[in-house]
Amino acid sequence: MENTSSQPNPENILKIGSGFMACKVLLTAVKFKLFTKLSAHPDQTAISLKKQLDLNCSDRHFFDFLDTLTGLGFLTRTGMLENAKYSNSMDSEVFLDSKKPSYIGGILEMMNARLYGFWDNLEEALKTGTQQNEAKHGVNVFEEIYKDPEILETFVNGMTGVQIGNFMAFAKQFDFSNLSTLTDAGGSAGYLSLMVAQENPHMHCTSFDLPPIGPIAESTIKKFHLQDRVQSKSGDFFNEPIPSADMIVMGNILHDWNEEEKILLMQKAYDSLPEGGIFVAIENIIDEDRKQNIFGMVMSLNMLIETVGGFDYTFKDFCCWGEKVGFKSFEIMPLAGPASAAIAIK
Ligand SMILES: C[S@@+](CC[C@H](N)C(=O)[O-])C[C@H]1O[C@@H](n2cnc3c(N)ncnc32)[C@H](O)[C@@H]1O
Repeated sequence: MENTSSQPNPENILKIGSGFMACKVLLTAVKFKLFTKLSAHPDQTAISLKKQLDLNCSDRHFFDFLDTLTGLGFLTRTGMLENAKYSNSMDSEVFLDSKKPSYIGGILEMMNARLYGFWDNLEEALKTGTQQNEAKHGVNVFEEIYKDPEILETFVNGMTGVQIGNFMAFAKQFDFSNLSTLTDAGGSAGYLSLMVAQENPHMHCTSFDLPPIGPIAESTIKKFHLQDRVQSKSGDFFNEPIPSADMIVMGNILHDWNEEEKILLMQKAYDSLPEGGIFVAIENIIDEDRKQNIFGMVMSLNMLIETVGGFDYTFKDFCCWGEKVGFKSFEIMPLAGPASAAIAIK
């Protein structure tokens, strides 16, 4: 991103400054289920797609929409304008067809429905330090989100979309041979537990989360036919002990809370682990130089929008908090894209 040539160049400034337009084109295509439709019926003309989507813009503007998606790498095209036929690009076919288990559009749906609007208030968030979402007026964000089943579903699918690649990578990369139990604290729909159980047939996993999430996790576990080795347990990790296990994972949990609460949660994990037990945080761990992991830093700003006091952090921060609660050694394992597993051993 940094311009390393000796000549000034406005390209990066304009690209990022207008980035919301390209972003909204993709989010709208996901909302229209365009990629799902093209997966079922590839090689379609703009006119046929426009009819299916029941759109009333001019053909010219719909060509602009589809060709922007093509230029951005989300569609492929043969021919031009009226004669063009559109299909999904390889990435869109795998990750944006909502009928496939590899669909990650949940996070994009959540960004469109919630974060896109809330981020309009970044200025206010920076000026006042206050959250800008459903819980703007000082209540717990989870309580507020969980009151509305539609927002709850969007939120849970969003969480799954952003983490599924990391969960799959962690389940494959980590050597579970000396472990037999795992608790995923704040486990949402249960995907981390499911990925670990699927990849490691000797593992028994518990997905632990607030009561409104229980039925969602139970139905996901049933879908995977893993009820014999994955269970959902309801509870509050601040007010109850975290269910004991050889490994306790927290995926995108620590970043929701302030430093004192982060240390308290690590302490609770420590207390529920046996000697030699392992605590893992799966998050967008920021690089020590705070320059490379832009997604991690933007997520940290997202915590300003979404939470009271939450922020993302570096591996050094993680080790420092871990040492305070008594963990003996630490490792970091890169996962998909900007995320890593920060690992602490008791
Ligand atoms: C940001 S989401 C992360 C979900 C999932 N671990 C992931 O990696 O995608 C935070 C999760 O923490 C859960 N949570 C929040 N407060 C909690 C509490 N006091 N006890 C248990 N779970 C809680 C929420 O319900 C939500 O599922």
